[in-house]
Amino acid sequence: MALYPPSPAPPVAGSSTKNEKLIFAPSPDTPLSSPAGQAAIAARAAAHTAKVIAAGGAAAASSLASSGTSTPGGAALPPRAGQFLQHEGQGGLRRNDLDPVSPITQFHAWFAEAKAIGGIAHPETCTLSTASLPSGRVSARIVYLKELDRQGFVLYSNFGTSKKGSDLFGDGSENSEGNSWASLTFWWEGLERQVRIEGRATRLPAAESQVYFDTRVRGSRIGAWASRQSAVLEPKKDVDAKEEKDEDDGRAQLEKWVAEAEAQFGATKKAEDGAEVESEEDKIPVPSFWGGLRIVPERVEFWQGRQNRLHDRFVYDRVHSEGADGEAKEAWTIQRLSP
Ligand SMILES: Cc1cc2nc3c(=O)[nH]c(=O)nc-3n(C[C@H](O)[C@H](O)[C@H](O)COP(=O)(O)O)c2cc1C
Repeated sequence: MALYPPSPAPPVAGSSTKNEKLIFAPSPDTPLSSPAGQAAIAARAAAHTAKVIAAGGAAAASSLASSGTSTPGGAALPPRAGQFLQHEGQGGLRRNDLDPVSPITQFHAWFAEAKAIGGIAHPETCTLSTASLPSGRVSARIVYLKELDRQGFVLYSNFGTSKKGSDLFGDGSENSEGNSWASLTFWWEGLERQVRIEGRATRLPAAESQVYFDTRVRGSRIGAWASRQSAVLEPKKDVDAKEEKDEDDGRAQLEKWVAEAEAQFGATKKAEDGAEVESEEDKIPVPSFWGGLRIVPERVEFWQGRQNRLHDRFVYDRVHSEGADGEAKEAWTIQRLSP
């Protein structure tokens, strides 16, 4: 099954039907996000297409319209990878544009811009990567950044049964080691920016997690209690199911756990206007296996897309040192990296 129809897929030398390429260089030669840049390239392509049509090359013109690239002679080129053009006019990202003291301040500024420009849906969405020991096997998943403070980046999750939980803190078995190193990666296409964070992860105290937990709708708090995140849900064989589609595929187990949690804490109460209502005694405690995770950064990289893959990259590395009073001092180096 093709996942994404390549546009148009050139035959690849040496390829056989056994190892058919389902995706091959799929992006056309357009900037990835700048509307102005996109309009300029579309206009160039349209003008060139019109020239080819005027010269009588209808077949070549139709191929141009689909690929968006051409040689002066009119023959279509293979699809080109997208360009990052938005920051060319402003000279890209320079060292002077960065906060000289803290990557947290710098992240905060970029995050505010990602929120402000609109068109970046949920800039708090990021990839959390962890690695288990002793295998070194890496695992990544999307999470939401929920808090940023002077110490680091906070997200919320289940640490009792999830893979991230066992990677970071061990699974409780005798040979299991936790590996507290974790990374977060953000991609804000509308600004052509990536941020990479590497650091050590620590759990937030329950009292701090409770503050965020209380902001979630009751159904989500019940859900946190009910779900054994990433545990396998075994199907229940339903003798009365007439058709295969009526048979349970494992969801019944989750619904049973939700019903148990609702029985323990009480289901959601609603006012006449449908709004959720809750009194002090309806409050739900944060589960001990659930809560906040703070990633305290050791390295933070800010990446700004530029033309021809000649991107601007600056990395902050934490320098560990002590002041005269023996107190740990926060200091960072900033270096430019080659794209
Ligand atoms: C957009 C999006 C946001 C998500 N946010 C979170 C989150 O904040 N916390 C969380 O535990 N899982 C979140 N998930 C689910 C995770 O990707 C993942 O399925 C889950 O945490 C179990 O992963 P693990 O067993 O590898 O730890 C999110 C998924 C998506 C698609």
